[in-house]
Amino acid sequence: MTWFDAKIVAVDQVATDIKSFRLVPADPQAGLASWKPGAHLDVRAENGIVRQYSLCGDPADPASYRIAILHEAAGRGGSEYFHSHVVPGSTVAISEPRNLFPLVEGRSNYLLIAGGIGITPILPMIRELDAAGRAWHLHYGGRALDRMAFTDELAAYDDRVDLHTGLLDLPRILSEQPKGTAVYCCGPTALMDAVLETAAAVGLDDVHIERFAPVEAAEDSDGTALDSFDVELRQTGVTLHIEKGQTILDAVIEVLPDHPYSCESGTCGNCVSTVLEGTPVHRDCVLSDDERKNKMMICVGGSASKRLVLDL
Ligand code: FES
Repeated sequence: MTWFDAKIVAVDQVATDIKSFRLVPADPQAGLASWKPGAHLDVRAENGIVRQYSLCGDPADPASYRIAILHEAAGRGGSEYFHSHVVPGSTVAISEPRNLFPLVEGRSNYLLIAGGIGITPILPMIRELDAAGRAWHLHYGGRALDRMAFTDELAAYDDRVDLHTGLLDLPRILSEQPKGTAVYCCGPTALMDAVLETAAAVGLDDVHIERFAPVEAAEDSDGTALDSFDVELRQTGVTLHIEKGQTILDAVIEVLPDHPYSCESGTCGNCVSTVLEGTPVHRDCVLSDDERKNKMMICVGGSASKRLVLDL
């Protein structure tokens, strides 16, 4: 992955425990890559922590990016670092925007569902859909109004936005949608799982979700993961032994230090590797069933066979 230096030029408290950060190129002569709603950045702080954050500013703004971060007391340390140490003037490294959650074009209706910090990728979608004159509606849920970000910006859309401080009535909301509705959801895992399940129950099949947290407890795909196994890197001509508690990625970067990775939680897609032989155990939330036939995320994946062969 190619990294670019960016400077934080503004930090705003946009809700309880949520701050937004505005970034510009550290080199004033450098430009910023364009992006579309649903895109995210990999952000590497000065202490080396790398996290993925959705872009929640205006795609038409060529001069700056905006991200927003929820302070998660029980998180893995990324949000704590950004909330406590990143201030105007701080420098971070950023990737080019990547979009794993793009808006599909041409649907007759768009239903947007956000929970908490999950509003971030949805906000630019609203701008684009509204500017294009599309039919859309947002249901935004949170524990309390003061914990929901950007409600001031959402107020401009009047009755096309419903704010919920309790549970969303998903069966009602989803069953009211006309055929052909595209559903977009970002938020807590439980909300996204409930949207997927309820949408399927009412016959909506155009559902798009974005996960930035690892699938709960990184469940094995078939429950047969071995504690230790060998991994042959076919192109490199090296065989690695993976011990209990070690990831394949840990071992791979010992011999291939440039192998890309970022989140180390099976959510960013950077460490994807092609499997030539063996039976991988999948624990990511990036790959489709089809992709799992010959690919794996080696930061979280394991093996059900004593030997895996990777095309590395
Ligand atoms: S490093 Fe992000 S999916 Fe493996």
